[in-house]
Amino acid sequence: MIDISSLEKEALTLIKEAKDVKSLEELRLAYLSKKGKVQELMAKMRELPKEEKPAFGQKVNELKNELTTALKAKEEELKGDLLKESLKKEKIDISLDAYTPSYGTLHPLTLMSQAIEDCFIGLGYQVAEGPEVELDYYNFEKANIPKVHPARDMQYTFYIDPSTLLRTHTTAIQMRVLEKAHGKMPIKLICPGKVYRRDNDDATHSHQFMQVEGLVVGEGITLADLKGTLQFMVDSLFGKGRAIRFRPSYFPFTEPSVEVDMSCHVCGGKGCSTCKGTGWIEILGSGMVHPNVLKMAGIDPQKYTGFAFGVGIERLAMLKYGIKDIRDLYTNDIRFLKAFKHFD
Ligand code: DAH
Repeated sequence: MIDISSLEKEALTLIKEAKDVKSLEELRLAYLSKKGKVQELMAKMRELPKEEKPAFGQKVNELKNELTTALKAKEEELKGDLLKESLKKEKIDISLDAYTPSYGTLHPLTLMSQAIEDCFIGLGYQVAEGPEVELDYYNFEKANIPKVHPARDMQYTFYIDPSTLLRTHTTAIQMRVLEKAHGKMPIKLICPGKVYRRDNDDATHSHQFMQVEGLVVGEGITLADLKGTLQFMVDSLFGKGRAIRFRPSYFPFTEPSVEVDMSCHVCGGKGCSTCKGTGWIEILGSGMVHPNVLKMAGIDPQKYTGFAFGVGIERLAMLKYGIKDIRDLYTNDIRFLKAFKHFD
């Protein structure tokens, strides 16, 4: 009697226990190849009596099929394990620290411009802009500074041609705004922007700097409104508790003209190096819009009055952030700029 079932058992056990694809292939060769054990069984068929041959042949065929199926199944299983293992090995370790980009910070001039704008937008002001390459007409003539007026010497100017220049002050925008209003009142605006002057650069001067112009025109506007408005601005930029005072001054486009001082935010008015011992710091120029300026814009100065002011943004930023040299604001040293991170 040829023992098929023990061969079957033995083969199935070995297949089941196979550890890898290679040993599985060895088993396939051992059992199913031409010289394999199943083929050997076939060879033995010759020794059997004729009537047993078909049944035996069928059994051997079944065994062959069974082992083929078992080998295939095991192969799939092993390949699956292999895949799982390689997936495990190739897993991306997402717990690693990601690259953290270094964030930029707002420039101190941007911070100060935004603080001024926020303050006035909160009071219902509009924001207007104008060209940096400006006509002499708006920069000077409409501001009550005719061609031969000595006040032109107050602001050394970069001329492009006799009638075109780089604006020396944001007052030029004020003149455009007044003209564009076509007499429609009231006007309540701030105008921020860059301005240019033929100054030599040093710790407190720059040939290019920034200003914000303020303008309010309507019925019954007085110097008291100007003072209240500027006090509100100082409170919101430097914190409550700073006093302001008006000093008589001269600007061709305002009458009366005043320069505005704020009590020193460093020493509280006692006197220190920031306020040069005086307790006061000059912060801006302002006044009541000159009747000539209103007239030139087609506004009746008998009916309407207005106040205006012009403030240097660098100056306020330097005071607020304790910057000693205006050039630091333009040389873009990243270490300097990063120091303002906590004001963002
Ligand atoms: N334009 C002046 C300057 O640049 C500043 C200024 C003074 C603006 C008085 C005004 C003002 O609107 O009323 O020096």
